Amino acid sequence: MKHLISIHDLTKEEIYEIFDLSKKLKKDLKEGREHKLLKGKTLGMIFTKSSTRTRVSFEVGMYQLGGYPLFLSANDIQLGRGESIYDTAQVLSRYLDGIMIRTYDHQDVVDLARYGSIPVINGLTDLMHPCQVLADLFTIMEKKGELEGLKLAYIGDGNNMAHSLLHGCAKVGMDISVATPPNYECDSAIVEEAKEDAKLSGSKIVLTYDPVEAIQNADVVYTDTWVSMGQEAERSERLAVFKPYQVNKELFSLAKKDAIFLHCLPAYRGYEVTEDVIDGPNSVVFDEAENRLHVQKAIMVMVMGD
Ligand code: CP
Ligand code: NVA
Repeated sequence: MKHLISIHDLTKEEIYEIFDLSKKLKKDLKEGREHKLLKGKTLGMIFTKSSTRTRVSFEVGMYQLGGYPLFLSANDIQLGRGESIYDTAQVLSRYLDGIMIRTYDHQDVVDLARYGSIPVINGLTDLMHPCQVLADLFTIMEKKGELEGLKLAYIGDGNNMAHSLLHGCAKVGMDISVATPPNYECDSAIVEEAKEDAKLSGSKIVLTYDPVEAIQNADVVYTDTWVSMGQEAERSERLAVFKPYQVNKELFSLAKKDAIFLHCLPAYRGYEVTEDVIDGPNSVVFDEAENRLHVQKAIMVMVMGD
């Protein structure tokens, strides 16, 4: 593994390698054993969008591994004033051991990896959020014991989360049903990539406009905000369109009895999910958020470690 840009680039074996290392790092952290696997290394973290979980978990993870995280807000670096990705990649490769980037255009992350000579980790683009979904799958494995054969229902916007969930489920052999409103479907190129992997893994992919159909028999129910970063101007239109896609108690009761609820967070209670679901007994959202730390430490070790 040289970079982590898309889950589609990984093999199933690499995904399970990440999970094995995540499990070990999590257990050892809880039991007080330290692993300075990135001693003396520096990770630059470029953010052109807001973040709580990604920023804090990468920073803390880097400290725990003996390295140094460097927060680079796009407001403060020349990239934000129009310096090219090519020059940024060339220059940062002379100082850093790795880059984590959160930005709008997915192509910028691809170009950063192409033009630089150090590992690049995708911390969210408009198209994908691979670190989140690797932490999600790890959480599902912790709760359910295994991934293969489970069904995940994603209800809401056909956005970056839906895309990485399609990639992730198709790699590990989980069935996935995605229910979006018309005109808010998933990107067709991503769906094709997931279908390619699903042929190998045996996972079933269903795309529908009907949340009731999607949620039937689901082991995992997932939703995300209806208004992603950068879509603020469409807010009122989106809130109206997505209303029938709210994950509330009534809809959630149609999943399996022991279904778990996941959300990448930040969540907006009363919109994409109601309090009784996200704060209810089947919700695992804070374990999921914690696992960002453990899984990203494993990812950093795999791409930046010696
Ligand atoms: N889930 C997630 O990536 O959260 P942040 O936007 O707070 O980083
Ligand atoms: N879809 C959301 C995910 C936030 C973690 C966004 O892009 O804003």
